[in-house]
Amino acid sequence: MKGIILSGGFGTRLYPMTKVISKQLLPIYDKPMIYYPLSVLMLIGIREILIISSPQHIELYEKLLGNGSRIGIEISYVVQEYPKGIAEAFLIGENFIKDNRVCLILGDNVFYGQGLVQILRDASQLNEGAVIFGYYVNNPKQFGVVEFDDRGNVLSIEEKPEKPKSNYAIPGLYFYDQTVVEFARNLKPSERGELEITDLNKEYLKAGKLKVKILGRGIAWLDTGTPEGLLEASNFISAIQKRQGLYVACIEEIAYRQGYISKNQLLKLANEMKNTDYGKYLSKIAYEI
Ligand code: TTP
Repeated sequence: MKGIILSGGFGTRLYPMTKVISKQLLPIYDKPMIYYPLSVLMLIGIREILIISSPQHIELYEKLLGNGSRIGIEISYVVQEYPKGIAEAFLIGENFIKDNRVCLILGDNVFYGQGLVQILRDASQLNEGAVIFGYYVNNPKQFGVVEFDDRGNVLSIEEKPEKPKSNYAIPGLYFYDQTVVEFARNLKPSERGELEITDLNKEYLKAGKLKVKILGRGIAWLDTGTPEGLLEASNFISAIQKRQGLYVACIEEIAYRQGYISKNQLLKLANEMKNTDYGKYLSKIAYEI
């Protein structure tokens, strides 16, 4: 399975912070936001990753992450000329996806919690159709919302409904089979002019090929789209890291633990950041195991 991180958009709710910088490069506590979704893909075991961003920002991502070889993965880049919708990722990424199954994660989605990785690894085993998630929130109006019957069958999916039929929002993490590009090609822009991921998911639902799994309350799915959300997410990550002494979304640590890089490679990365707690943490990890 291949992975796509969609990291474009205007980030208007974060102006003036995002007037000249890409939202997904802003820090969540001690690392750029995109490290969080990238770490999720790496933990699932996905090593071929496409990053999509806007023409003015794509180079910054390349500077930050290069071709991925330093952390034992392959990263390529492609531009989204204008934010015309999340589902456009599959059209822009067509040459990258080829005949593969694909996981799409939004560059501003932060997930954390016990059992998360296993749930996502299971989802990544899909042979046919799509797997998306439902997460209980108190403000479902802002999201795609999924409605279930008593047995957990999906009845409907609606994008930003005025009157949500449930409290289950759909997070920005989706798994699709090889047919996703074809499905995406048949989408028409919505009233707001976007190729909606909700419309794509509705097509899978119509075809009887959509699974929705619940991410339980033990898992954190954090909002990073507003200044308040950004601060809360930073405080959350800081509290966990300080308490445990273990880092969240440390891509170098994950690469090492997954066996993508050697101890020497990890130490080299640590040395480049030796003046920071982050760098010291990496060398501690290298000597621990
Ligand atoms: P949004 O939160 O809908 O948009 P935004 O990030 O531009 O923020 P704002 O509402 O403040 O203007 O997007 C969710 C994620 O998807 C975010 O990481 C940006 C990304 N995105 C794209 O990269 N391209 C797109 O066409 C769209 C719609 C979103």
